[in-house]
Amino acid sequence: MKRKNSAKRKVAYFLSNNVNKFREVARILEEYGIVIALIRLKKKEIQNDSIEKIAKVSAEEAAEELNLPVVTEDAGLFIDALNGFPGPYSSFIYRTIGVEGILKLMSGVENRKAKFKSAVAYAEPSGKSRIFSGEVSGDISVTAKGDKGFGFDPIFQPYGYEGRTFAELDTDEKNAISHRGLAFRKFAEWYISKVR
Ligand code: IMP
Repeated sequence: MKRKNSAKRKVAYFLSNNVNKFREVARILEEYGIVIALIRLKKKEIQNDSIEKIAKVSAEEAAEELNLPVVTEDAGLFIDALNGFPGPYSSFIYRTIGVEGILKLMSGVENRKAKFKSAVAYAEPSGKSRIFSGEVSGDISVTAKGDKGFGFDPIFQPYGYEGRTFAELDTDEKNAISHRGLAFRKFAEWYISKVR
């Protein structure tokens, strides 16, 4: 949606090292007149079983260090038959065994149900913070398909899309139903009412 009056735009500072994520988030928030500035910090994420906790700690630490309100997101792929693996370890697993490694682990497995989950954290230098969550259900495909998106997109078939994977959807189609789209829309609704 185009907005004529740029003076009415709001800014959010998004901490991430993932440019693909940044593109998706910029497009979602644009619908609300929110412009995001990308902040890249060389920082190690904490290891934790909860994506909410990881997002919250990253946002709180960055907000304090930069003396700015900061938004971060932690996301992951949770596969039923693997008891939620890789979940909060998705980034490490993607870098190590990757898409093909997950397909091997799932070879011959009948239950292919999985979820992408997103936790968006907003933190202020004062220490105040908030979490917004989103998730989307689907199946792990048998082979990788599509060349759009990033990460595990080529093996995730959201329900209701005739077996197409996230990597076969356009950014707007993915954003309309994705874990990230849901969580960031909740954030945006709250943020625009807060800074109005
Ligand atoms: P993080 O939130 O950057 O730690 O994301 C963890 C990992 O989960 C990423 O490296 C991706 O491999 C995967 N991931 C998270 N969100 C998505 C998505 O929307 N599509 C595909 N993979 C994702």
